[in-house]
Amino acid sequence: MAHGANTTAAHSFGLDTVDEAAPSGVENRPVTAGDLPAVSALHARVFGPGRFARTAYRVREGTPLISPYCRGAFRRGELLAALRMTVVAIGESSPHLMLGPLAVAPEVQGQGFGQALVTEAVAAARSSGIGVIILVGDMPYYGRFGFTPAPRGQFQFPGPVNPARILALEATPGAMAASSGLVRGL
Ligand SMILES: CC(C)(COP(=O)(O)OP(=O)(O)OC[C@H]1O[C@@H](n2cnc3c(N)ncnc32)[C@H](O)[C@@H]1OP(=O)(O)O)[C@@H](O)C(=O)NCCC(=O)NCCS
Repeated sequence: MAHGANTTAAHSFGLDTVDEAAPSGVENRPVTAGDLPAVSALHARVFGPGRFARTAYRVREGTPLISPYCRGAFRRGELLAALRMTVVAIGESSPHLMLGPLAVAPEVQGQGFGQALVTEAVAAARSSGIGVIILVGDMPYYGRFGFTPAPRGQFQFPGPVNPARILALEATPGAMAASSGLVRGL
């Protein structure tokens, strides 16, 4: 094979690892319990102390700290970026996901780490029966993944949220129209 590539690694491409990133020593993989201290430290660095006051944190309160959709980017064991995905109900329907927080270490921002983690998590959600992925965030960033502004009033949160920042992506066809109401963590 060209370039002396390791064929085992070349054939193991999937959601658990991203071999495309292997030359730089970066591995994208699900977050485990052992990663949680590093995730907390990254959140503190990126978002600061005000982060706990956000309404999105209220949705996540009391939910497991890790879902199967949480992902991190690691280089030589060091956490560079982390994406939390929380399984939620919307009104009476589930399972859906709430995306966030997404945090990329300041020294590696703008290098594609955020995009890779979101792309992988969306793919995993699409292939495993998740209805809708919602988030509170910037349309100019999340629009590239297929998120669109949610119709006003469709999703309610347990606290104040700027309605223009409520974005949603339909992971299963038809799920958007079938989901409305209060977003609550499961
Ligand atoms: C915002 C953030 C998650 C993006 O991840 P990243 O790995 O740095 O960015 P990526 O390399 O994936 O994407 C870079 C692109 O996103 C754009 N971008 C970054 N942040 C943006 C924002 N808030 N709004 C719009 N576009 C944004 C960049 O301009 C760049 O655009 P280009 O592809 O057209 O050049 C990361 O910078 C971060 O953690 N920032 C601080 C925390 C934060 O604001 N989090 C928001 C999510 S809760």
